[in-house]
Amino acid sequence: MHTRLISRRAGAFDSSGIRKVFDLAARLVDPINLSIGQPDFEMPAAARRAVHEAVDAGRNGYTPTQGIAPLRERLEARVRAELGQPQRALCVTSGSSGALNLALMALVDPGDEVIIFEPAFVMYRPLVEFLGGRCVALDTAPSFQVDVERVAAAITPATKAILLNTPANPTGAVAAAGTVRDLARLADARGVTIVSDELYRSYCYDAPFASPALHSENVVVIDGFSKSHAMTGWRVGWVHGPKPVVDACTMLQQYTFVCAPQVGQWAALAALDAPMDVPLAECRRKRDALMAALRGHYSFVQPGGAFYLYPEAPGGSGGAFAERAVAEERLLVVPGSVFGAADTHFRIAYTVSDTTLERGIAALTRLA
Ligand SMILES: Cc1ncc(COP(=O)(O)O)c(C=O)c1O
Repeated sequence: MHTRLISRRAGAFDSSGIRKVFDLAARLVDPINLSIGQPDFEMPAAARRAVHEAVDAGRNGYTPTQGIAPLRERLEARVRAELGQPQRALCVTSGSSGALNLALMALVDPGDEVIIFEPAFVMYRPLVEFLGGRCVALDTAPSFQVDVERVAAAITPATKAILLNTPANPTGAVAAAGTVRDLARLADARGVTIVSDELYRSYCYDAPFASPALHSENVVVIDGFSKSHAMTGWRVGWVHGPKPVVDACTMLQQYTFVCAPQVGQWAALAALDAPMDVPLAECRRKRDALMAALRGHYSFVQPGGAFYLYPEAPGGSGGAFAERAVAEERLLVVPGSVFGAADTHFRIAYTVSDTTLERGIAALTRLA
């Protein structure tokens, strides 16, 4: 083998801790798997039909870099109307992961600082560091809410962006409308760009979703169909924001992802008209059932959105608890260490069948 086969960049990272849980799940017989962050309902019937129609109609090739026109234009019109920003531009991407990659590539230079809120989605730190950027992590425990004053204190001349995620993975925390407004104002006043990951925006249970983009044209928004329409495998997302940033993302997509999968884009277009209120209500019902069952056994903050509960680990270590859960109950949860420096909590994804949720609750109650 070559002496230095793997680049320093790749060598500096370990496989995502969530992948390790998935690998473990594959080896267990009949595990109770509460580790997977994806909806358990089917993608809309209209989207499934659109898949077949697209394939049969020979729509299997590349698309324009920025996405098929009917989808891109519809999404763009929607965000322009919602935000009252007729200049806002939009590019369809290969999942919201693609959008995140492109937006950070477009914004971050080596040495730039990006403020992230921990616990944070697993991809944020590696993406920033791949680009030679530095993550400045603000620990949001125990409330998991963004503290705008702490953000203000963390901004330095090197700060380029603030990576906000509401509703949040893994905590389910939803930022209050006043907080996102103040954060948007702060970012504008200090010349910092907010990258707002809104992938879970349709999962808000206790208060309406509030985007910082409502308060500033400079906010770059990441969104997608994976969670809202149960289309994780189809890889369709989008980025919208100021035209120069979106143009840079589109240019970068030419040299990286090329385009989002064509069939997925036709499915996404059909999915836009599908009513999603029933699966969303189901998700809320599962959240409420899980909280009611675990209250008294675990300490947690009520998650206002997404589909995760983030309790404190009995014994204080998320890692030790996750190992014990596997060993004693064949139960898979994700330790907090995967999402940042603290390992005090663990993540439960409650988008599972009622049977699995009941088994999970019984196992968690025994483990408490
Ligand atoms: C907060 C957040 N952002 C982005 C993604 C990426 O989703 P996708 O690339 O499937 O759109 C995920 C997936 O779990 C996520 O939780």
